[in-house]
Amino acid sequence: MLEHGGRRRAAALRYSVPEADWLDLSTGIHPFAYPVPAVPTEVWQRLPEDDDGLLGAAAACYGSPNLLPLAGSQQAIQGLPRLLPAGTVAVLRPIYAEHSAHWSAAGHTLQRFTADGLEAAAASADTVVVCNPNNPDGAVFPRQRLLDVAATLARRGGRLIVDEAFIDAAPEFSLADLAGSAACPNLIVLRSLGKFFGLAGARVGFLAAAADLRNALREQAGPWPLAGPARWVAQAALGDRAWQAQTRQWLAAASPRLQRLVAPLGDAKRPAVASALFVWLPTPRAAALAEALARQAVLVRGFVDDPAFTGLRFGLPGPEAEWERLTAAVEALRCA
Ligand SMILES: Cc1ncc(COP(=O)(O)O)c(C=O)c1O
Repeated sequence: MLEHGGRRRAAALRYSVPEADWLDLSTGIHPFAYPVPAVPTEVWQRLPEDDDGLLGAAAACYGSPNLLPLAGSQQAIQGLPRLLPAGTVAVLRPIYAEHSAHWSAAGHTLQRFTADGLEAAAASADTVVVCNPNNPDGAVFPRQRLLDVAATLARRGGRLIVDEAFIDAAPEFSLADLAGSAACPNLIVLRSLGKFFGLAGARVGFLAAAADLRNALREQAGPWPLAGPARWVAQAALGDRAWQAQTRQWLAAASPRLQRLVAPLGDAKRPAVASALFVWLPTPRAAALAEALARQAVLVRGFVDDPAFTGLRFGLPGPEAEWERLTAAVEALRCA
């Protein structure tokens, strides 16, 4: 299995620093998660039911009637490659590593392309996979550009998959409203409650796609892909527009603040990129910087495997004390 951020226990052991003493910025999960209300006892006891209101809340929030709730968008990332006929799949580079891993494992022919090669990739592949905004480098793809690519693919019977796990801070960029519609039957969109809503542990995500694909993934997932309490919490979060608006406001200030804070660790030629829920710092010194931060009990995610895209991804600090701690850690590195 691939490794991901959020492995605080392993860091605690490796650096002999108690888990509670770490400033964990190794994921892009919102530090102030949706405040989960007490789950009614009955919700723990009954079997989950499809008509409990979750779909309606998600449809209103995402603007899509073509949704399938899943145990995290991860379930779609793993399931789609096993459902779709073997073919050529072009996957953006860099991207959340689970995408390429599962297309390869399911026997598809994998191609990789960088953001500027999207249109060329769509000219020959059967399936194109992008992430918008992209994790880890924060690249953003305008709606019209992706719709043009989906149209190119549709002419050859191909499909476009857009992983929108991090899009909730700027939902105007989302294509969820068109995915699986009569206008874009070959467009597939993934959404997640693990990032903006901060509910990564609940394992809730959605596939927006045409009915045949939704039905096939539903069959593959079995009768109860989501636990009842996860469905209940997700419904509350998706319906809470006041919390969402307030969160967008906080993120609009927090992410540029983080960008300014960590920028001095990079170089002017390759500036830090602010995405709503994380900052990407391209640097050839990613491994050394991640190690130096870990020695100050600050956990960040270092990307070192692809020489063209080495860098650090910083998640957002939460309370003011965490911002101060990161400021001190960055200062210490600059003076070292
Ligand atoms: C870009 C991206 N997509 C999807 C996922 C899967 O998230 P989840 O299964 O919690 O929805 C992740 C998790 O880190 C991610 O970074």
